[in-house]
Amino acid sequence: MFEKHIYSDRRNRLKKEINEGVALFPSNPEATFNYPANTYHYRQDSQFSYFFGINRPGFAGWIDFESGEEILFGNDVEIDDIIWMGTQPSVADQALEVNIGKTLPYSKLVDFIKNALSKGRKIHFLPPYRGEVMIELGQLLGISAHEVKAHASINLIKAVVKLKEIKDALEVAEIEKAVEIAWLMHTTAMKMAKPGMVEQEIAGTIEGISLALGGPVSFPIILSVDGQTLHNHNHHNILTEGRMLVVDAGAEIHSLYSSDITRTIPVGGKFSQRQKEIYEIVLKANVESIAATKPGHEYREMHMLAARTIIEGLKGIGLMKGDVDEALLAGAHTLFFPHGLGHMLGMDVHDLESLGENYVGYDEHTKRSSQFGTAYLRLGKKLKPGFVLTNEPGIYFIPALIDKFRAEGMFKDFINYDKVETYKDFGGIRIEDDILVTDTSHRILGKPIPKTVADVETTAAQSREWIKVKGVF
Ligand code: GLY
Ligand code: MN
Repeated sequence: MFEKHIYSDRRNRLKKEINEGVALFPSNPEATFNYPANTYHYRQDSQFSYFFGINRPGFAGWIDFESGEEILFGNDVEIDDIIWMGTQPSVADQALEVNIGKTLPYSKLVDFIKNALSKGRKIHFLPPYRGEVMIELGQLLGISAHEVKAHASINLIKAVVKLKEIKDALEVAEIEKAVEIAWLMHTTAMKMAKPGMVEQEIAGTIEGISLALGGPVSFPIILSVDGQTLHNHNHHNILTEGRMLVVDAGAEIHSLYSSDITRTIPVGGKFSQRQKEIYEIVLKANVESIAATKPGHEYREMHMLAARTIIEGLKGIGLMKGDVDEALLAGAHTLFFPHGLGHMLGMDVHDLESLGENYVGYDEHTKRSSQFGTAYLRLGKKLKPGFVLTNEPGIYFIPALIDKFRAEGMFKDFINYDKVETYKDFGGIRIEDDILVTDTSHRILGKPIPKTVADVETTAAQSREWIKVKGVF
């Protein structure tokens, strides 16, 4: 947790954004996986954590925008809880840790809501994403659980985005810790990517590093020799010489700040000539679009810059053809790069995404593209100092997409389909870094993780002790 004034400062800033009604921030409940007492690792809601700091279930935060009053609703633990979970600080003590002087039993929340509603006051809340929270909010507000999301406060969404999208030095330091953990995760994966290894052995090892040094991974690990599948969570393949392993993984630390890094590793430690050619194009797209990252420019520009580098590179090796500007405008690169350059990063790995991607990544000046591929760009708007974002270009050879585009006669003037056919067994390459937008430029966060062909090969040439347990795979 941060010092207590950080939380009251954040709430005070929020109070400056909205001047009527009250805000209700429910904490996340426990999430159960196979029977009620068997729960997943507890994960607090990131917005509750930002304003109220407490990393436990059973609370609701209340901010009255008119009187300025702040209340933490929650119950002190009872003897049964203490027997199973140990002693815990009182609600009042926990509230003081985040500079809140008033606490009430959770059961009182319903009276406060009824009272506010009876006076016609607006109750601002953010869109819930967990079923239990939807049901509870529905009961408290007297609406159907299905309608709750539609009643979420746009003003509160916009205010929270405005505050949280700018990371202060303390937050950047937290994200940087998560990137340091990712350094160990990724360099370990590089050393383990040997022929004969099962993807699961590497995925499990690096997930363990995240758990050992911080918290759980910040999202389910993507680790596959079938890197052409963008979010591949299957880890059953056995690594063979000549393939590449895409590892997209990050850590979350106790403060909930996270990292999100991707590296692509040649199995056995050496890229083939064909792999190296594509790798260098992706790396150039990553390096050049990072170099161009600075405040006042739309992130969509960086996305387009990366896309242009990809077109030029693929044209250079005969996979694309024709006029680069026309290909870019038509979106021909989306056959190979069918996703966005990046997203905001913070407490959520896709930061603030539960509030609605268009509120986070777009605004009244920058509207989301409807073009295939480019529509997946999660962050398009103008950058401000304090934004932390990912830069993650990639080139993929997705057989089903190649077949579809070819059959439909898509981008015939820009794609050399006969040559592309010969790459259907290639897989994919993605490279991702976490970037802070500074006052005049940018900074890549964390200790550098091997990224050039030479550095990846050098690390992948090393090994990490491993034993094969007979009969496990
Ligand atoms: N690293 C996973 C994602 O950005 O979606
Ligand atoms: Mn990412």
